[in-house]
Amino acid sequence: MLEKLSKWKSSLSSQEVREDIDLANIPKHIAIIMDGNGRWAKNRGLPRIAGHREGMKVINKVVRKANEFGVEVLTLYAFSTENWKRPKAEVEYLMKLPERFLKKELPNLMEENVKVRLMGSVEELPDHTKSAVTEAVKKTENNTGLILNFALNYGSRSELMNAMKQIAKEIEMGTLSSKEVSETLLEQYMMTAELRDPDLLIRTSGEIRLSNFMLWQVAYSEFWFTDVLWPDFNESHLSEAIAVYQKRARRYGGV
Ligand code: IPE
Ligand code: IPE
Ligand code: MG
Repeated sequence: MLEKLSKWKSSLSSQEVREDIDLANIPKHIAIIMDGNGRWAKNRGLPRIAGHREGMKVINKVVRKANEFGVEVLTLYAFSTENWKRPKAEVEYLMKLPERFLKKELPNLMEENVKVRLMGSVEELPDHTKSAVTEAVKKTENNTGLILNFALNYGSRSELMNAMKQIAKEIEMGTLSSKEVSETLLEQYMMTAELRDPDLLIRTSGEIRLSNFMLWQVAYSEFWFTDVLWPDFNESHLSEAIAVYQKRARRYGGV
């Protein structure tokens, strides 16, 4: 443990040591709503997809930094169940990004011992997207470092609905009794079943809303919003969010 701590410390820049991030109080699960790619591109007179391409490059930086800090789970909201409403060409481009990202980054993720995981209705994705992401999950399944949880075609209401439907079905079949339905049981039917709830939720681009993201799981998460657009987000913003998180008093309804 001590050895691990000193390893992290030596890999942190002097700025973070000055910022005084307490390595014993790192949020174990960080969830990020990566927003603002379109506006980033618009500000430069570029097509929206240029913003998505630039945004993809940020993921790698944030994953590495989170891993260095000893974050256990990093959940990234990449595509919502509502994002299908976008123009066809944009959706098609977004569906190509996981392949592009993994083609380039999978060797690094392996080297960094990152375990890729998915959350969302993966079966509705185009075949090429599905095969790229399921291959990444398979290849990294024995890695023991950071869990990189991609929310892809994810929507919190649909997740809750599906969990409820499964429970209703079990009750109907007689394999479950209504007396057994509890928060813990419901959680077992959700897409985050084996994950802890996010400790810290970050949203970029200045929007102060959840956009159907982990409504159940963020009940007691600390929120950090920034005006920074996702393609401009970097390691120091992540450090800043963690530093702010560490100043918060989490009370969970207590005193
Ligand atoms: C986030 O950026 C990426 C996805 C939702 C896929 P946006 O594409 O939403 O960017 P803005 O909000 O239009 O700037
Ligand atoms: C949320 O961003 C979804 C992702 C970041 C993947 P949106 O850009 O889709 O959210 P709204 O439409 O502004 O609420
Ligand atoms: Mg947006």
